[in-house]
Amino acid sequence: MALLEIRDLRMVYPNGHEALRSVSMQAERGEIVAIIGRSGAGKSTLLRCVCGLQRATSGAIHLGGEDIVAADRHKLRTMRRRIGFIWQEYNLVDRLPAITNVLTGRLGYANAAASLIGIFDRTHREIAVRNLDRVGLYEKANQRADRLSGGEKQRVSIARAMSQEPTILLADEPVASLDPELAEQVMADLSRVAREDGVTTLINIHQVELARAFADRVIGIAQGEVVYDGPPIGLSEAVLDRVYRFDRMPRLAVEVGIS
Ligand SMILES: Nc1ncnc2c1ncn2[C@@H]1O[C@H](COP(=O)(O)OP(=O)(O)OP(=O)(O)O)[C@@H](O)[C@H]1O
Ligand SMILES: [Mg+2]
Repeated sequence: MALLEIRDLRMVYPNGHEALRSVSMQAERGEIVAIIGRSGAGKSTLLRCVCGLQRATSGAIHLGGEDIVAADRHKLRTMRRRIGFIWQEYNLVDRLPAITNVLTGRLGYANAAASLIGIFDRTHREIAVRNLDRVGLYEKANQRADRLSGGEKQRVSIARAMSQEPTILLADEPVASLDPELAEQVMADLSRVAREDGVTTLINIHQVELARAFADRVIGIAQGEVVYDGPPIGLSEAVLDRVYRFDRMPRLAVEVGIS
């Protein structure tokens, strides 16, 4: 069985909007999967359902054999310990140093009372420092998060997620706030550490060329449905039209002079 197996996932928001219709997909252990699709296609909804931030309306999400849709609160808490999440806007605690932000990735494992007052034992500190070092930020360990550049902030959040020792990593547009050169570097860091640790990774991304460069597989979503699932090399113009058709049609109409 694949590490992640999603079957017939449907998500209807309380206002009646059906964001995911019937999504089925799998991801193998260690696989890096890029998810592409136009704005509003359902990419973030999908990741939020996978990490249990949002409960799907129906369907199943088996992670390591356990269904996150059916999990009770206690089970969900245990499962989420091993789910790393990387946000577009980093979600760091601004006034805390980089290293402390990374250490929060260890909260699920640390002694709760001690960690509340900032005491983490040596093992946790070693893991955090090693992960900062892996993304090239050893020197910045004591710098406050709000004094780091955008690229550095996202690297801290990668180090934090890796410190969770996750079985799965979910990244929702991790490089959308960075300039193109930096975006490529951060994607390189993210995919390298994920590969080194064999962590299955799902990345929502708008730049098709980055999906091509760093993913093993690409899933295209349009209007809450999977319209492509295959290797990056299969992303032909025809496939991209299918994924982005609702974006492309008006442009096409302008080009052929029918709008
Ligand atoms: N809390 C909510 N209540 C109602 N509708 C929502 C809610 N959150 C998202 N939606 C709708 O669900 C659809 C999918 O949203 P989602 O955020 O998953 O899209 P996305 O693919 O991540 O888009 P983007 O590329 O802009 O981030 C959109 O039409 C959105 O307006
Ligand atoms: Mg989104």
